[in-house]
Amino acid sequence: MCGIFGYVGDKPAAPILIAGLKALEYRGYDSSGLFVPGSGVVRSAGPIANLEVKIDPSLTDTTGIAHTRWATHGVPTEKNAHPHLDMSGTVALVHNGIIENYKELKEGLLAQGITFASDTDSEVLAKLIGTLYKGDLLKAVREALAMVRGTYGIAVTSTHNPKQIVVARMGSPIVLGVGTGANYISSDPAALVPYTKDVVYLEDGECAVIESDGYKVYESSGRNRQKNPEKIDWDIEEVQKQGFEHFMLKEIFDAKEVIDNTIRGRLLHDEFRLVKLGGLEPVLDEIKSLDRLTIVGCGSAYYAGLIGKYILEEYAGLPVDVELGSEYRYKRTVTQGKTAVIAVTQSGETADTLASIRSAKEQGLLTLGIVNVVGSTIARETDAGVYNHAGPEVAVASTKAFVSQLVALVLVTLLVAKERGVAEAELKKIAKELQTLPEVVQTYLRDQKETVARMAEKYARYNDTMFIGRKFHAPLAAEGALKLKEVSYIHAEAYAGGELKHGPIALLDENFPVIALAPEDDVCEKMISNIEEVRARKAPVLAITTEGNDAVVSVADDVLEIPKLHPMLQPIMTTIPLQLFAYYVGTAKGLNVDRPRNLAKSVTVE
Ligand code: M6R
Repeated sequence: MCGIFGYVGDKPAAPILIAGLKALEYRGYDSSGLFVPGSGVVRSAGPIANLEVKIDPSLTDTTGIAHTRWATHGVPTEKNAHPHLDMSGTVALVHNGIIENYKELKEGLLAQGITFASDTDSEVLAKLIGTLYKGDLLKAVREALAMVRGTYGIAVTSTHNPKQIVVARMGSPIVLGVGTGANYISSDPAALVPYTKDVVYLEDGECAVIESDGYKVYESSGRNRQKNPEKIDWDIEEVQKQGFEHFMLKEIFDAKEVIDNTIRGRLLHDEFRLVKLGGLEPVLDEIKSLDRLTIVGCGSAYYAGLIGKYILEEYAGLPVDVELGSEYRYKRTVTQGKTAVIAVTQSGETADTLASIRSAKEQGLLTLGIVNVVGSTIARETDAGVYNHAGPEVAVASTKAFVSQLVALVLVTLLVAKERGVAEAELKKIAKELQTLPEVVQTYLRDQKETVARMAEKYARYNDTMFIGRKFHAPLAAEGALKLKEVSYIHAEAYAGGELKHGPIALLDENFPVIALAPEDDVCEKMISNIEEVRARKAPVLAITTEGNDAVVSVADDVLEIPKLHPMLQPIMTTIPLQLFAYYVGTAKGLNVDRPRNLAKSVTVE
């Protein structure tokens, strides 16, 4: 949560900081602020645009730090916006994370006569650094951090040395952007792409000092560590809207390219191998002999994991558990035989998923990742993994990353199934069909976008909805409901179709429509019975079914038809109209679908 951006160079810093914040706004957007040493702090509640209008265009300072906030401690007001200052007003800090022991630290500072201007935990850290500052900012930051419990990505600068920024990381990402005659810091490499593709990822416990002509990284012991930049492999176009009205729509339309990128070079069709996942090669023998797999994730990534469980168990016969990151990290886990834990995560920074991986490591388990952001913490901390190669996802609601997660789970299923000796003929058939999927999805998007938009307009007037599905489509119903909730604020429940009669059907009436995921498959007849139960309670039914499935068409009020695919691939196809539906309901209601209220893209706090 929260985005941090900083600049040290020879150009006026303020416009660069504002552009950086705009690129990070998806991480938090309830308030923002910046500090340039020659002119002090400017803060504002609300979106970055509110801050931008407050900036004096004649500011010439060439160093600065900036922050866009997703509130944890203290309501999102101007006084709680970052940067926060020390008592003398000379040291400024921006912070992403949570200082867990801020109350006790604050009491100690209050006892010294230090007063506070905000309700935040972050200001406590700013004040603490100020009290420890004796002419060496790095030293003061390190001493203060030694007293802190919690998570942080911080950037600190001071009027005493206005050409320097000190950064540190523990649990919240900090990336250095290495330019020519200028250096940058950011919470996300995507915001650095307009300036440089050379980046240095800080590890937990590391600090760095950034100046215009260089940077120095220090380990937690204080020892200087030589870290050379890595190259980002995205282009600037990938983090722009490219003519689409919203990032969310652009990212839904990226599906073809995303599937292409996720499967590129990974399907072999040779005599010995079907799938090659380079990132898993070093642990292939361990994967072959697994008794059990635990998938961990949060939000959409968790639902992708649930679909992964269905397909891994159905086609590879591997027992799979799926756990929410926020639960796995605190519960006792009982393992049976050889177990691996695989994190599914777009950002690779989600705090609960990361903590789960660390907990699995402590138990001596093999840890794997299906991760989109290259170089992210989870990508680096897992033993092996699969990159999604979906490119940067900017909209807060995950769309293209979810599609790519499903594709990656199909690849893992094919790999495991082949290794476990499952009959090859069917696996080959699936692999072949997977290669045609990008085109199928592209054609659907091109031809059916308007139809879905019209349907969404019709359903946008309801306050409640229920998504139902069975088997592979039961967890997808939950993802459809999550997407609709996030971008339209419509109350959306999700149930496996067979569960309706155990309680939720009591909710239904003519004002409570049901979105039924009912492709033609081995549970379709059961879904039709569920749809009939729903209709008997007068609830309108919008069914998503495969082309030519008249049995579903005849029982539903409205239908969206999709191409029929192999059952393992069908959920990927069904995802597309669900994402479009949520998008168009949100826009029909006039909402900012890219930045829904109360949310942030990357949840790096608990
Ligand atoms: O970056 P991650 O995939 O780990 O993020 C997990 C969730 O926070 C994320 O999927 C969230 O639920 C999205 N807002 C869903 O659209």
